[in-house]
Amino acid sequence: MNSNSLVSITDISKEEILYLLEQARYFEEHPNHKVLDGKVAATLFFEPSTRTRLSFETAVNRLGGRVIGFSDASTTSSSKGETLKDTIKMVSNYVDIIIMRHYLEGAARYATEVTDTPIINAGDGANQHPSQTMLDLYSIYKTQGSLENLTITMVGDLKYGRTVHSLLMAMRYFNPTFRFVACEELQMPKEYTEFCDKNGIKYSKHTDFSADVINTSDIIYMTRVQRERFTDIMEYERVKDLYTLRNSMLDDSRDNLRILHPLPRVNEIAYDVDDNPKAYYFQQAQNGLYARQAIICKALGIDIKKMEE
Ligand code: CP
Repeated sequence: MNSNSLVSITDISKEEILYLLEQARYFEEHPNHKVLDGKVAATLFFEPSTRTRLSFETAVNRLGGRVIGFSDASTTSSSKGETLKDTIKMVSNYVDIIIMRHYLEGAARYATEVTDTPIINAGDGANQHPSQTMLDLYSIYKTQGSLENLTITMVGDLKYGRTVHSLLMAMRYFNPTFRFVACEELQMPKEYTEFCDKNGIKYSKHTDFSADVINTSDIIYMTRVQRERFTDIMEYERVKDLYTLRNSMLDDSRDNLRILHPLPRVNEIAYDVDDNPKAYYFQQAQNGLYARQAIICKALGIDIKKMEE
């Protein structure tokens, strides 16, 4: 296994998180930095994506590298029965880094076991999405001026939403208070509330997305109900529209409140929120470019600031 792989946000220390945030800030100021000359990255997406794949590919391009890969596994030999192991071993022969999204939890970890090429987990089932977490942390840091002592309200599909799982774990270093707003069926899984208990993280569970919860939040992190993870489509239909944030609900919210969403949204944020200065989800997606430039460079052992000294 290549120790520069990023599979789970729990693989990296507080110092490494702060280092990546500092590098992301550098790339925001200098997005075109040709440090990947001669390097090739593979983006292997076994599940659909817009932001993650395109921002990773933009990151490589802006850093002067090249990209190969696929966004639809049905066009590859996996449709003929080729295993993930063989696919990873083959692609490792061609590239310097593999960025992969897979529908199976643990797929990225498994990939690290069959190759020495660094693996970046771009989402594995309902498990983890660590690069999303880095852009979320960068967005929180930019909008709040700190990651410390914040009240973060997570809303929607907390069961299947891998972005909230990764963010919750990353925040363990920064003394957060979490509110988990979800129906009983989609509440935060026990393994994550146990993680909070073990790490002394404060949290409360709510089924009501109340004014009190909204008006005492620094961050509201909305999530989409993940239709693709449901085995019973009737259950999805029953829970898909339970929580929608509307502009009028923000009238008495804190000045520093920002609304985050990993996107894509379906109908959990009404369009009238988009023009509210507290809506930050499109800037959040833009921050993904800088965070992913930082992640790629770290995985390849490239420290921009040291190179400039
Ligand atoms: N946030 C996120 O992972 O978006 P995509 O599914 O479009 O990559």
